[in-house]
This record gives sequence, C-alpha cells and structure tokens, in this order.
Amino acid sequence: MYNLFSLLLVCGAHLVSAAAVPPVSGYAPRPATCPNTPLVRTATGISSSESAYIAARKPIASVDLGKWLQKVNKNFTTANLPNVALTTSGGGLRSLLIGAGVVQAFDGRDSNFGTSGLYQGLTYQAGLSGGGWFLSSLAGNNYPTISSLETNLWTPAFAESLVDPAGAAAPAAYAQITADILAKQAAGYTPTVVDPYGRLLSYQLLYGPDGGVADELSSITGLSNFTSHNVPFPIITALNVETATGECTPPSNSVIYEFSPYEFGSFDSGVNAFTQTKYLGSLLSNGKPIKGCETNYDNLGFILGTSSDVFNELCTTFPAVASTPGLVANLSALINETHALTTMDEYAIYPNPFYNYAHSSLVSGQKNLTLVDGGESLQNNPLFPLLQPSRSVNIILVNDNSADTSANFPDGSELYQTYMQAQMAGLTKMPVIPPSSTFVSEGYNIRPTFFGCNDASKITIIYLPNHNYTFPSGEPTEKLEYTPAETSGMIMNGQQVGTYGMSSTFPTCLACAIVKKTGEKLPAACASCFNTFCYN
Ligand SMILES: *[C@@H]1O[C@H](CO)[C@@H](O)[C@H](O)[C@H]1NC(C)=O
Ligand SMILES: *[C@@H]1O[C@H](CO)[C@@H](O)[C@H](O)[C@H]1NC(C)=O
Ligand SMILES: *[C@@H]1O[C@H](CO)[C@@H](O)[C@H](O)[C@H]1NC(C)=O
Ligand SMILES: *[C@@H]1O[C@H](CO)[C@@H](O)[C@H](O)[C@H]1NC(C)=O
Ligand SMILES: *[C@@H]1O[C@H](CO)[C@@H](O)[C@H](O)[C@H]1NC(C)=O
Ligand SMILES: *[C@@H]1O[C@H](CO)[C@@H](O)[C@H](O)[C@H]1NC(C)=O
Repeated sequence: MYNLFSLLLVCGAHLVSAAAVPPVSGYAPRPATCPNTPLVRTATGISSSESAYIAARKPIASVDLGKWLQKVNKNFTTANLPNVALTTSGGGLRSLLIGAGVVQAFDGRDSNFGTSGLYQGLTYQAGLSGGGWFLSSLAGNNYPTISSLETNLWTPAFAESLVDPAGAAAPAAYAQITADILAKQAAGYTPTVVDPYGRLLSYQLLYGPDGGVADELSSITGLSNFTSHNVPFPIITALNVETATGECTPPSNSVIYEFSPYEFGSFDSGVNAFTQTKYLGSLLSNGKPIKGCETNYDNLGFILGTSSDVFNELCTTFPAVASTPGLVANLSALINETHALTTMDEYAIYPNPFYNYAHSSLVSGQKNLTLVDGGESLQNNPLFPLLQPSRSVNIILVNDNSADTSANFPDGSELYQTYMQAQMAGLTKMPVIPPSSTFVSEGYNIRPTFFGCNDASKITIIYLPNHNYTFPSGEPTEKLEYTPAETSGMIMNGQQVGTYGMSSTFPTCLACAIVKKTGEKLPAACASCFNTFCYN
C-alpha cells in the first residue's frame, strides 16, 4: 500500500519536474485512520500521555539524581527529590555545540566530572532553534552520547556547509530533497522553503537514509530510551505569525507554541489547546477531521526547521534569484521546482488544528498556522512550557547561548524578557530576574547565577551563560560550517560552561540549589554556595 502510494507520488512529481525520475520519497504526509481519541483538547493541564510518561520517568530520574547527589556529598538527602529540567537556547550551531558540551559534562555515560550524572536525573529537556537542532539530534537518534554524535555525525557534517549535505554525494541528496518536496506537494500541501531547509538540516543531524527522513517527532515515542523512560521528556518551541494582518514577525507577547512527541499546541490564552503531534497535517474544524486524517506531517526535520525558521525576517517575497550563491539561492532553486516563490514561502505552514475551535479565539479563524523560530519574540530560552503549573518543574538549568552582544554572547536580556512576559501571562513560578544592565555589571552574563533560591514558591533558575572559557565561543549564528577543530573546541568550551570552568566547588553548589527546593536539611557547605551564586 505504502509503496504503491509512493510510486504514485513519484509519477505525479515527474510530471512537474523536468529532471530525471526522482527517487522515491518518504517525506510526504500520508492518509491514515483517525484515532479513537479526540484530536484536539483544551489546555487544562498536561496530556494523559505526558502524565503517564512523567509518572514512570520520575522514580527513575530520582534514583539517578539521588546517586549523583550522594556522589557529590554523602550528606545530601535523597528523599522527596524535585523535578529538574534543562533548556538549550537558540543560536544556530553555536548553541548546538555549546549545549552539547553542557550535556556531555552532565552525562554520567560520557564524562567523569563532579557534574557527571546530573543529566540522568532530569525530568524535562527543552530546546528552541539551534537548541532544537541539538535536542532533535539527541532525541531523534535515541539519545546516544555526545562523543558518539560528535565523532560519527556532527564533525564530518559540520565540516561541510549546510548547502553541501553528505559531502561528495550532494547531487544525490539534492535530487532526493527535490523528490521529497514534490511528494509533499503531490499530497496536497504546498511546500515552503522551510521544507528543503529542514531536509538539509536533517542531513547533518539525523542518521538514516535521506537525512533521517523516516524520523517523525511522534516516532520518538517508539524509541527504546523513550519507551523505557530513560530520558527527560523533550519539548521544542516555535511562534506563530498572524500573516493575515500583514505581520511578518511575532510581537513580544506572542503566543508560545510547543511541540512534544505527543502533542502540539499552547497553554497561552488565545490558543489554550493541544492536538496530537502524530496527526498534524490533518484538516480539522472545531477539532473534528474534515476529510480523514494524515500522518507523517510531523517529520522531525520539518519541526526542527520550523523552530529555527528566521526567513520571515526578510518580510518580502523570498529571493527568487539570490544574488549570492549559498543557502538562500539553493532553497530558492529547490522551491522553484514546485511553484513561483511568494512571501508565504518564508513560513512553516501547518493546517491549523485549532480552526473553528472556540477555545482558541486568537487563531480559530485561521486555516493555516504560519510558524517561525521560537526565539523571535526575544525569549531565546524555551522556558514557558516549563513554567506551566501542571508540569511541576522545580529547577531549570538554563543554558543561554544567545547572541545579545556584538561579540555574540548573552547578556541576560532574553531571560529578563521571559520574566516580564511570564508576569503578564500569570506564570507566577518564574523568579524575579533583573534587567541585563545588572547581569553585565554583576557578571551574571559570564558565570553561573541562581535565581529564586530563597522562595519555595518559585522555580530555581540555574543560569549557565555561554562564555569563552577555553575557546572563542562567540561564533556568529549564521556560521554553518565548523572545522573539526572548531567543533571539538566549542564542545569542550560547553563542558566548561556546564562546570563553571571545572570549578571544584560548583558541583556541590548545583546540588545545594537543587536540594534546597525540597526543604530538607542541607550540608554545611551550602551556605557559601548560596552566598556566591544566589541572586535572590
Ligand atoms: C556530613 O555531616 C557530618 C555530620 O554533620 C560531618 O561530620 C561530615 O563532615 C559531613 N560530610 C561531608 C562530606 O560534608
Ligand atoms: C494554507 O496553506 C496551504 C498550503 O499548504 C495553501 O495551499 C492554502 O492556500 C493556505 N490557505 C490559506 C487560507 O491561506
Ligand atoms: C539508551 O539506550 C541504550 C541502549 O539500551 C543505552 O546504552 C543508553 O545508555 C541509553 N541512553 C540513555 C540516555 O539512557
Ligand atoms: C548549492 O549551493 C552550492 C554553493 O552555493 C552550489 O555549489 C551548488 O551548486 C548548489 N546546489 C544546488 C543543487 O543548487
Ligand atoms: C521557476 O522560476 C522561473 C524563473 O523565474 C519561472 O519561469 C518558473 O515558472 C518557475 N517554476 C515554477 C514551477 O514556478
Ligand atoms: C575571551 O574573550 C576575551 C575578551 O575578548 C579575550 O581577551 C580572551 O582572550 C578570550 N578567551 C578565549 C579563550 O578565547
């Protein structure tokens, strides 16, 4: 059935393309039987699927978190342990590589530092844009170690430009990507530049034929480390642009959408609903399918491309003929195989699952959602999903690799913006964050700082900013090619970000900040930690 269907797509594609018969594509959405469960629900809390995952994950994470705490200092309690999350910001490959080094420094399988083993104690992990690339590469490949991703996938991939997938085999990859977008078009969905962009990124981030084309966000639920609850629950964020009103970029109070292996949607008022990730692409009205269901729209490359789509910032017809060769020129050429370029090509288009859904007043009139990079509202750390009361997160390790300064380092302004927006959205678990001027004057932009230590009703934010400890890590976001030495230097620098430059006292201080949320007795060493690292 599936082979026949693919064959039909290829025949259809051949009519449109003047090129040789393109290879069979696994990219296109495919019709599927609709599930018995509702396709859309209001955002009254987390889904029952996520709730079941967390219920199974929590005891495993707690055992591992307890082991790590005991390794750091035998006097830490292992009772009543809190939920710990990690986020990786936007920032292209810079953020992917620093974020990877941070995880490596926390991963008991892959390093031997005081911090090693903390990764095994996490309950949630979120990423946006470059951080979403990182999280997708980790989760989509069933959570290998950073060392193995570095050696087997990233180093060779990043040594070639994004426009040169699979090195010498690039022409074959382009033929395959062309077939992919033609197949999506033949299935009834107009591809945009985000489709080939996601495909090119996938060649660098996912294993498997045609850049891991078989990987869907929802198929992560079938991977062994997910089914055994060995890993934190992954979440990737994106924003919607109200293109009908002539808007090109999201406003600062934009609704924040989240993608998980189970669901897509938002808790924010205006949307306040979720749909099942697996059935994205289905045309729905008031939560009911209009003409059956579709699967495979949630291609992982398309989603990681969505979370990092900054092409909307051009805000004019996507360059039909780019003056300089490179990514934009190649994407134009690929889309030109399917249709003449328009401004809509700058968005990741999803049939709106909340069309005619009364609870989603902001978007219920829109047939499509036009999604873009999750960091475009100046909140470059994917925190909103983790501030939701129903997620019961107590501590968030925030690895901020934003390029706020001209030298491409963070200055705290993204975290401050999230604090301001959280206040307005009524997300009261966000601790008070000072403006960036305070970060810079106090040095919170170049070393770890803890926010919310002293208030049991707040989440503690452990801020881990990118700083050039051992490598000039302020690489430009646009840099899409890293030599093997640069890839390795960036990851090693990320280890320094996660360990505060291999500080011998930092593991204890991290542990103190985590256990403080339990209200249990703390080792004496914690007092000086709080003096050094706690802002409030
Ligand atoms: C643990 O607590 C005991 C009793 O207060 C103290 O003697 C010991 O030094 C502490 N151990 C560590 C590693 O802090
Ligand atoms: C929604 O997007 C599809 C492309 O997938 C496009 O064909 C259609 O015209 C769009 N609808 C509206 C109302 O913009
Ligand atoms: C994922 O599963 C593999 C195989 O069982 C295991 O070796 C690996 O450590 C697991 N990863 C994590 C993060 O637990
Ligand atoms: C992609 O871009 C590279 C470099 O700009 C160029 O050499 C190559 O021909 C392009 N490939 C296609 C298929 O457009
Ligand atoms: C591709 O671009 C050319 C030149 O602008 C145009 O003539 C052609 O119609 C486009 N192809 C498609 C499929 O839109
Ligand atoms: C970090 O940046 C500072 C200021 O630009 C510079 O003096 C220092 O040499 C850099 N260190 C590394 C390891 O790149």
